[in-house]
Amino acid sequence: MLPRFLQRLRHRLFGGDTSYDAGLENEAVFWRRALADGGRRWNPEAFRQRMDPGFAFPPHLQELVAASPAAASDPVQVLDVGAGPLSAVGFHWPGRRVELTAVDPLAEVFDRILDDLRLAPPTRTRKAAGEDLLSVFPADRFDIVVCSNALDHSRDPLQCIRQMYAVTRPGGWVFLWHYRNEAEEEGYSGLHQWNLDEDSGDMVLWNRSARHSTRAELGPGAEVDTRSDPAVPRAIVTRIRKPLA
Ligand SMILES: C[S@@+](CC[C@H](N)C(=O)[O-])C[C@H]1O[C@@H](n2cnc3c(N)ncnc32)[C@H](O)[C@@H]1O
Repeated sequence: MLPRFLQRLRHRLFGGDTSYDAGLENEAVFWRRALADGGRRWNPEAFRQRMDPGFAFPPHLQELVAASPAAASDPVQVLDVGAGPLSAVGFHWPGRRVELTAVDPLAEVFDRILDDLRLAPPTRTRKAAGEDLLSVFPADRFDIVVCSNALDHSRDPLQCIRQMYAVTRPGGWVFLWHYRNEAEEEGYSGLHQWNLDEDSGDMVLWNRSARHSTRAELGPGAEVDTRSDPAVPRAIVTRIRKPLA
């Protein structure tokens, strides 16, 4: 797999199909290659961790559980949106039960890849797009809804945010982790049609023809807090708390 800057250079020099559908096909090709050699060329540590049945539920999500009604309920219900074939969210939390549900619109493709490669991850990704979560899950279903590096791969990130918020339990949290302004970085090719950025703590979604505020969309009840991830250049973290009913 070429590094991303070489892919971009090749694309600029030689062109190619930059449509969203071509982007979905490329995503499938990417994951088949990434998993084919046990993650060696992709990210050996991420591969090992995501295949581990003891993959730990991370401290930053434990903190959100502690600050929600889930602190007193069992099990903790977690949804990973745009999870890819191997969810990056852990589930092992000594003393607590975490029920992790992972969804991705490419789940059927991922099933074929995993079956071909005889890989059995601890959490199998189910088919659903972020825009359509309410067609798969009831409202107020999850304590924590996570979306990592996937919202800006969707056709309609604003609709994804609406739906993620809708399936979050009152008092629960939506947790988003993304790179800033990936559509600008990637020249609006393939899945990268939207930029995500931070503006005075809000998360803004923008491209060449539109700009949306997450705060304005969700209304005054929602607490939206976006900030830079100090550990990763260009990354932003958004926490959205849904008010208690
Ligand atoms: C860069 S991968 C990130 C996967 C995983 N979250 C991670 O952090 O490794 C982006 C994922 O977004 C998914 N995706 C594309 N469109 C989506 C949509 N409408 N809703 C949810 N996920 C989507 C892709 O299929 C892909 O698996």
